[in-house]
Amino acid sequence: MPKIKVDNIETTVPDGINLIEAAKLVGKAVPHYCYHSQLSVAGNCRMCLVEIEKQPKLQIACNTKVQEGMSFFTESPKVKEAQQFVLEFILVNHPIDCPVCDQAGECKLQQYYMKYDARPSRFEETKVHKEKAIELGPNVMLDMERCILCSRCVRFCKEIAEEDQLCFSQRGDHTMLTTFPDRPLDNPYSVNTVDICPVGALTSKDFRFQQRVWFLKGVETICTGCATGCNVRMDHNQGKVFRLVPRDNEAVNEAWMCDEGRLTYKPVNAENRLRHPLVKTAEGLREVRMETALEKFGELLKNISGHVLLGIGSAEFTNEDNYALIRFLQENFPVPHLAYTAREVEYPSQDDYLISADKNPNRAGVTAMGMKPLASEDRKYQCLIGLGPISESTLTALSFEKDHKVIVFATHREASLDYADLVFPVATFAELTGTMVNRQGRVQMLRPAFAPPGESKTVWEILSQAARLMSRAKPAYTAPEQVFADLAELVPAFKGLNYELIGKQGALLTKQ
Ligand code: SF4
Ligand code: SF4
Ligand code: FES
Repeated sequence: MPKIKVDNIETTVPDGINLIEAAKLVGKAVPHYCYHSQLSVAGNCRMCLVEIEKQPKLQIACNTKVQEGMSFFTESPKVKEAQQFVLEFILVNHPIDCPVCDQAGECKLQQYYMKYDARPSRFEETKVHKEKAIELGPNVMLDMERCILCSRCVRFCKEIAEEDQLCFSQRGDHTMLTTFPDRPLDNPYSVNTVDICPVGALTSKDFRFQQRVWFLKGVETICTGCATGCNVRMDHNQGKVFRLVPRDNEAVNEAWMCDEGRLTYKPVNAENRLRHPLVKTAEGLREVRMETALEKFGELLKNISGHVLLGIGSAEFTNEDNYALIRFLQENFPVPHLAYTAREVEYPSQDDYLISADKNPNRAGVTAMGMKPLASEDRKYQCLIGLGPISESTLTALSFEKDHKVIVFATHREASLDYADLVFPVATFAELTGTMVNRQGRVQMLRPAFAPPGESKTVWEILSQAARLMSRAKPAYTAPEQVFADLAELVPAFKGLNYELIGKQGALLTKQ
């Protein structure tokens, strides 16, 4: 652990780190463009120059490792002058089209210019113009005039996505970022290049021109696109989700996420979201108020006994919702049958990095609670209570009594819901506090961006309300923490866990 000085502040730092990381440890930010902690060092932007004691020339902090007794300066007059020159050089041919640039508000060029340069341009010649809307692949657009040639995107494709799809061509101020002929930027992680591009050169087709970033509010949650559970920030505004971007978690997704997962927010904003409960009538399903639906729920369950009642949990719902269903059924109906369903995809995307073939974000959670996948049995059921729309194939595989009842908790109005006698509208992953367990057995938190639409709620809220109305004692939860505390007390795999412990980076299930 070398002892060093950063701007005369003495500190001890881990062996082998570079000067950008060392400065960070004493709260000093060294500006940088090409350096990224997860990528190899390129050392081409020169924005990170620092002054090292006893060295005549400034050195780049990204490619200089700490050494015992080293002393360096991040804000000396020489460093400040160099920062101004580097920025002036980068801006020579930059179009400065910030008002129409998607990156404005989160652009390192804007930020550093205001912080380290802030001088009017001295450049009077004509700038070099380049193409402004190049389709690099199905998800990424390039504005070549804005590119500062830092090569982060090139290194990302080569080193992380392991598909060498980007390179530079031409020379000098005509240098261009490009793909190879007939080979688009189409690796399954391509949009990460947009996140790490320090300027507005790369933009996501899905997000560009949708929203100015200063209107967005971010919430730290997880992706529910597959069993990996990548950590993400969900950016939203006025009840609408605009994008998911990866959030660092070394144990799960490092700093990345897949392109498919980025689009999993779409159903949250969909037009066919359920806002009110639906009850079966002679004319089909009809919207009713929540109180009416809860009364109906009580009526449907009146003369049902446990052995003809089937509860179906879901590997797509939270632990809290699944557990509330288990508690509701076990407390109020002797020996109900319990199982779970999962989303099955015929040809799932998958790789040996992040993308999991299992597209269910919480299979490990429902399994840890002791639920088994739904299998057809000889038994005839009189009532089914299920989380998520129950697929036709699932229904046909089961046997029912003649006048059986089906109650489901669903997020969207789908034609296939017509089999149901009662449908409760429920919150999506963007509208609730809850937990899911990823494929590593890591319990992770979902956090809400905004309230669910209309009268929709979480399953545990609806079941607690129903139990109260039916004068049943359980479940009687009023907060997700209570559901989880109950789960942690009664299910051994969750023992000792709580929301605080799970925090932003998750916590592993107890080994059984
Ligand atoms: S497109 Fe962005 S990330 Fe790629 S080289 Fe240019 S500035 Fe760097
Ligand atoms: S790998 Fe899975 S969890 Fe990660 S972003 Fe993609 S779909 Fe989401
Ligand atoms: S960050 Fe060091 S040279 Fe670019």
